[in-house]
Amino acid sequence: MSHKDALRSAITSVVLAASIATAAADETSIRLTEGPGLTQVQASCSMCHSLDYILMNSPFQDKAAWEKTVNKMVKVMGAPLAADDVATVVAYLDSHYGKESPPPGSP
Ligand code: HEC
Repeated sequence: MSHKDALRSAITSVVLAASIATAAADETSIRLTEGPGLTQVQASCSMCHSLDYILMNSPFQDKAAWEKTVNKMVKVMGAPLAADDVATVVAYLDSHYGKESPPPGSP
């Protein structure tokens, strides 16, 4: 097994373990606002940490900040988001969890 193969299989097991953990945590996972992009957020942003991270950062992140966060999650952490989905997720986060958007639960 080459070094690269070993690395790849290590990554595969981490991803697998993460998806099992997500499935198990599904029932208790927090509910985010419905809207275009929610599916991608639920699929890609809850595998390494709770979706709480989004709520936690909501009070102070504007669109540019969300863009930076999502890009960091993809490029540095390795979140499995297609380029198209990055824009969708950023738009979702900005409109529902942006600094300027109404707090969750308000009309
Ligand atoms: C591959 C694992 C992974 C995935 C997938 C992932 N994250 Fe993260 N995320 C992390 C780690 C690790 C940290 C803590 C990083 C740190 O402290 O610098 C983090 C931290 C955060 C934070 C806290 C602020 C910060 O910048 O550290 C937010 C907000 C966040 N993630 C949002 C998201 C969103 C939104 C997505 C989906 C697009 C996502 N994450 C997907 C690994 C991941």
